[in-house]
Amino acid sequence: MANADIIIRNGTVIDGSGTAGFAADVAVSGDRVSAVGDLGAMTGSQEIDAQGKVVAPGFIDVHTHDDRYLFTHPEMSPKASQGVTSVVVGNCGFSLAPWKNYGKDQFPFSLWQDREDLIFATAGEFLTQLERTPPALNAAMLVGHSSLRYGAMDDLQRPATDGEIAVMQDSLRDCIDEGAIGMSSGLFYPPAQAAKTEEVVAVASVMAPRDGIYTAHIRDEADNVMDALEEVAQIGREAGVQVVISHHKTAGLGNFGRTKQTLPKIEEFQGRQRLTLDVYPYHASSTMILPHLVNRCRKVLITWSKPRPDVRGRDLAELAAEMEMTAEEAAAALSPGGAIYFQLDEEDVQRVLAYPGAMIGSDGIPDDLHPHPRLWGTFPRVLGHYARDLGLMSLESAVHRMTGLPAAQFGFRDRGVLRTGCFADLVIFNPKTVLDGATFEAPTEPAIGIDSVFVNGLAVWRHGKASGARPGRPIRLGDTSRGG
Ligand code: ZN
Ligand code: CU
Repeated sequence: MANADIIIRNGTVIDGSGTAGFAADVAVSGDRVSAVGDLGAMTGSQEIDAQGKVVAPGFIDVHTHDDRYLFTHPEMSPKASQGVTSVVVGNCGFSLAPWKNYGKDQFPFSLWQDREDLIFATAGEFLTQLERTPPALNAAMLVGHSSLRYGAMDDLQRPATDGEIAVMQDSLRDCIDEGAIGMSSGLFYPPAQAAKTEEVVAVASVMAPRDGIYTAHIRDEADNVMDALEEVAQIGREAGVQVVISHHKTAGLGNFGRTKQTLPKIEEFQGRQRLTLDVYPYHASSTMILPHLVNRCRKVLITWSKPRPDVRGRDLAELAAEMEMTAEEAAAALSPGGAIYFQLDEEDVQRVLAYPGAMIGSDGIPDDLHPHPRLWGTFPRVLGHYARDLGLMSLESAVHRMTGLPAAQFGFRDRGVLRTGCFADLVIFNPKTVLDGATFEAPTEPAIGIDSVFVNGLAVWRHGKASGARPGRPIRLGDTSRGG
């Protein structure tokens, strides 16, 4: 008689808490971990030998733009292949929901057009649709401040009026009541650049009673990065909410080394308010084509271009020469589109990764035709390249930043740790071989060394491919340890 659905034997359990790994078997029954320890006396309907492998909680990708991809590619291979079992969508100010029908064509990412059935007027509709047509992975959603602006304003190139702020507040309050876990802002981006600090404080403050979280793509990650950090810390204090500084970096050739200033500042904020950060493990960034960025980079690669679909993956400098334009002019001519910007210092990347409170978030852009490799490579790159090969942190610490730490920060109850009674979101990987496969040249190569990935007790990725199972669930604010 089998007394568990799955038993994973002989592995090293790294439980997500940051403490040392230990030898143990893991039993799964239904959607939960039912036992951890020496399970020699138990049998499973399915038995997996994890000799030489690590068994860990599935990774939580705290920074994604997978809002639409969850529906268009429910197997979620870019993430499942890395061992990710939950994603947080709606970052950088842009969320698919709520959609109030303004400015459909102005929306800056490629993620959002062309399917009537993927337009959600409310956060509740979005989360309900995730239940009706479930993806492979769990998902929690943030409401984008820029998305709220689209819904409340006819002209985004100015600060919101009191009346418009009230519309955004009502909309955000409804979204939080329907299960959104917080709000993101992207004050760097054109749709929100004109927003004043007070506007964001006023909107974010409606989340305080339910402890919604606030994630921030800050106004400036380059020359004025210190002011921009001050601004989001102020928003957190005045609105009474927890802040997550997204994809922390100092950008531009002139700002190399400046994480030596930003990290002590962040530590200072942490002494007086709830504030944390996430990071991706690459020295290049990626976003839409923004001509003013190109001259601060060593190199720029085009990820997609609406007017020139043929140029994806190509170097902007080469294209500019062919087009007989400056790089800035060529960038304008190739817009709308996306690009990869080589504008970060590897030493800064490592300094942020090594910062003890830093969570890992991919910031992958799944609809790009030639995406930044972070989409497919982030988590195994931290485990293999930065933890194992460079020794920047222990494997246990690396796993903690992807599991227990984000689960605690975002309030994901019974996820992010591997313990009896927790959800069976699990990854089995080989610590000797785990590594990113994706590169800037070949950005959609799956990771190496990820053996099996389970979500709510079902395998979603095994032996290098998606299983086809779709056990993912929406994670609503009410299901978390926040929002009381
Ligand atoms: Zn961002
Ligand atoms: Cu982002």
